[in-house]
Amino acid sequence: MSDIKIKEAPVADEQAQPILTHERSLSQKIASGSEASDILDQQMVMLGIQLVTQLNVLIKTSRIYERTNAALDKPVDAMLTLIKTMAQDQPVTLRLQNDFLFLGNSHLRVNAQQMAVATSIIDALNAWKIGGMIFSLTVESKDLREFAALFVSLDPDNKTIEDLQKEITARGIVGIELEEQRQLQIRQGPGTAGNIGPGTAGNTGPGTAGNTGPDGTGSADLKVQRKMNAMNGYAKVAGSVGTLTQASREGGTASFKQAKRAIQNIIDLMVDDEAAVLGLTTLRCHDQYTHNHSVNVSLLSIALANRVGYPKVELADLGLAALFHDMGKSTIPMEVLNKPGEFTDEDWVAMRKHPTEGVLSLSKMRGITNLPGRMAAASFEHHMNQDFSGYPKLTVPWTISLTGRILTIADCYDAMTSSRVYRREPMSPSKVLNMMLSKSGKSFDPVLLKLFVNCVGIIPIGSLVMLETSELAVVLKPAEDKANGERPIVRVITDPQGNSVDHGREVDLTEKDETGNFRHNVIRLIDNTEYKFDTSRYFT
Ligand SMILES: [Fe+2]
Ligand SMILES: [Fe+2]
Repeated sequence: MSDIKIKEAPVADEQAQPILTHERSLSQKIASGSEASDILDQQMVMLGIQLVTQLNVLIKTSRIYERTNAALDKPVDAMLTLIKTMAQDQPVTLRLQNDFLFLGNSHLRVNAQQMAVATSIIDALNAWKIGGMIFSLTVESKDLREFAALFVSLDPDNKTIEDLQKEITARGIVGIELEEQRQLQIRQGPGTAGNIGPGTAGNTGPGTAGNTGPDGTGSADLKVQRKMNAMNGYAKVAGSVGTLTQASREGGTASFKQAKRAIQNIIDLMVDDEAAVLGLTTLRCHDQYTHNHSVNVSLLSIALANRVGYPKVELADLGLAALFHDMGKSTIPMEVLNKPGEFTDEDWVAMRKHPTEGVLSLSKMRGITNLPGRMAAASFEHHMNQDFSGYPKLTVPWTISLTGRILTIADCYDAMTSSRVYRREPMSPSKVLNMMLSKSGKSFDPVLLKLFVNCVGIIPIGSLVMLETSELAVVLKPAEDKANGERPIVRVITDPQGNSVDHGREVDLTEKDETGNFRHNVIRLIDNTEYKFDTSRYFT
């Protein structure tokens, strides 16, 4: 039985692929930054994808055959050729970060056909918590064979990457080094902008906070894990929206597959712990390329739609539609979008076109052969307002879709609480919510707005409050009991004198003492923008 299965495994197609090579000394001749160097980079990326493909074949084949078997010749030879071609100036580094593959610092973008291979390697590396594989020129056929045999014979469930590394050394394998996985750190410190993306990501080594490192100092605590997952999920969505927006800006094509997968992942996380995911929307990042606004709007929309009772499959469509609601802004020049200070009338004219431009941009993108109405609606309707006081102005009767109404709420909430959108000063979450409630039935669908308040809480996630002990606390989670809606779960972040405390205690404000009185009370709401507190740090 197992024999039959075994024979199917090698993938003939992958092995038959031609190897693309370029002149070895080319890299030395080309000045970096030139057009030719871009071409070289592209070639390197193509070679990198071939390296991944061959590595995948090698691993798969090694699961079946002995290291000396001729079946391994092809992938081994192919890998050696690729490594020798690429490793002229420096070793070839294949990296895995947040489930994206990189060759050095270049993202290996894979197409739909290559996706299965990439996923297979990503899974294999993840199982070992390998963050990078470095191949140098000294690597030989025997090293690759021996390494692959080792890789498939040891069990990552009861061996660590260190064990694997030790075995590599013990067996005299040269030219292959492993790097540990590096966790993405969204926050660098209080008040600083978050950092998302491979080149820029701050990395925490093993044993530092939030990292369940092999040295045992990290805790495998479910909560920490969930937070890490939520942050990684957030980073992935941000990454995919960045890639797609840029592709649209450059007039290129892009596929929505990656974004869809990332959104799906977020939905799964949200089902587990909505508050942990929503907490990330309080992240205030000023790096335009990370597209926090789009991601936040997507997360808030999904949470709201979930309350409305959308089926899970539809949540993904809605999340995707929300993610690209501002796609029309890719037609607005960067100088306008990044303008310090006020917009001119002309800027506003351009700005007000973004909902309709969005429909056009979206319809041009590959991957939407049949542009889902929801996506077009999301872009078209998100500034219309319930009473049509917004834009675009229509001369025909219109009914705003449920998606459009959900999005209007999520969009406004995030735009107002964040300083990035429209250059406004950010407002505290509760002020925004009050302002929005005052426009209930005018700008916003009143029923949806009520449900939204349930999502973020009357004192919304990310708000700062002062407890009667004079300690400051940040709202982590809305109260589960709606009757006590003004009593969320908070984390204490300062002592009574206002000095910040690390790992402050979590307090459930609905908790009562023996006499039936509430143990803790909020005496006032603090304007976090006034205090310049970056509350997102308490979620990470
Ligand atoms: Fe917009
Ligand atoms: Fe927006």
